[in-house]
Amino acid sequence: MINYKDLGLVNTKEMFAKAMKGGYAIPAFNFNNMEQLQAIVKAAVETKSPVILQVSKGARQYANQTLLRYMAEGAVAYAKELGCKHPEIVLHLDHGDSFETCKSCIDMGFSSVMIDGSHLPFEENVALTKKVVDYAHQFGVTVEGELGVLAGVEDEVSHEHHTYTDPAEVVEFVTKTGCDSLAISIGTSHGAFKFTPEQCHIDEKTGRLVPPPLAFDVLDGVMKELPGFPIVLHGSSSVPQEEVEIINANGGALKAAIGIPEEELRKAAKSSVCKINIDSDSRLAMTAAIRKVFADSPAEFDPRKYLGPARDNMEKLYKEKIINVLGSDNKLED
Ligand code: G3H
Ligand code: 13P
Ligand code: ZN
Repeated sequence: MINYKDLGLVNTKEMFAKAMKGGYAIPAFNFNNMEQLQAIVKAAVETKSPVILQVSKGARQYANQTLLRYMAEGAVAYAKELGCKHPEIVLHLDHGDSFETCKSCIDMGFSSVMIDGSHLPFEENVALTKKVVDYAHQFGVTVEGELGVLAGVEDEVSHEHHTYTDPAEVVEFVTKTGCDSLAISIGTSHGAFKFTPEQCHIDEKTGRLVPPPLAFDVLDGVMKELPGFPIVLHGSSSVPQEEVEIINANGGALKAAIGIPEEELRKAAKSSVCKINIDSDSRLAMTAAIRKVFADSPAEFDPRKYLGPARDNMEKLYKEKIINVLGSDNKLED
């Protein structure tokens, strides 16, 4: 049993309380490899932002759970080496699918876990989430639950339909489970294809597709029921069209990739939304940079020559999110 405090990590409790008070949101970035982690830590340190490092079930399978845990421990040391005296880094399980997965992460030093029972009937979701909370809280680990189902398909996380969160259910869920934050469904979804072109309209100035707005009325309803309670938004990539265009201009084939407009996320970050999950945008930034090197320099075969630019491009993206979307910059103690 390893406790996260011994790894220099923090849980989400104080972080969310400060974000709530300050009207900003904490970035929750997924990582699967060293370059992503380096870019996240560098961006967080240079912008003085707290950060949540997210590990999905797919990431644990891809990179090895033990290695990822040591990488997160290394992230704290790396942040200090970069000159950050008081890094605030959470290691979080993204979309935990069972009590056993959550327990295994808690036992190996995660400071926060999500138990995703959103596909279950209400009472079963409550029972599973409560079981995880009861275990996690013994060790000071914070727990994110989810009510409502997101649309979209992405690897392990797939749902055909989406059902917005019902504000009438949230108080009962939070009270019965004791969870520390709640992920809700208001129209975001996982992956780079969040809307069909038919659901969008064309912006006359840019010629680009504009998706339908998020259901802010649902978020308002939840905030009315749970004043001051930390809310989480999954599926919050904006799918930068510049990256999509670079990918497509260099041999890629991403058709109608559409994300959540940044203005909507900025608005959400100022509300009770304390955690905003971003994964796909980092995948796009990485792929765009790699494709460009491959197209421009077909003779290149030193991975550092394409993973390096990929890392730089991700760092730029993370900083842009922190400063221009989430507003979590300049929040660390000097
Ligand atoms: O919400 C899902 C995350 O983007 C993780 O995706 O399961 O492909 O690692 P993954
Ligand atoms: P995106 O696919 O929009 O980046 O969402 C990631 C996410 O919600 C991780 O849990
Ligand atoms: Zn998610």
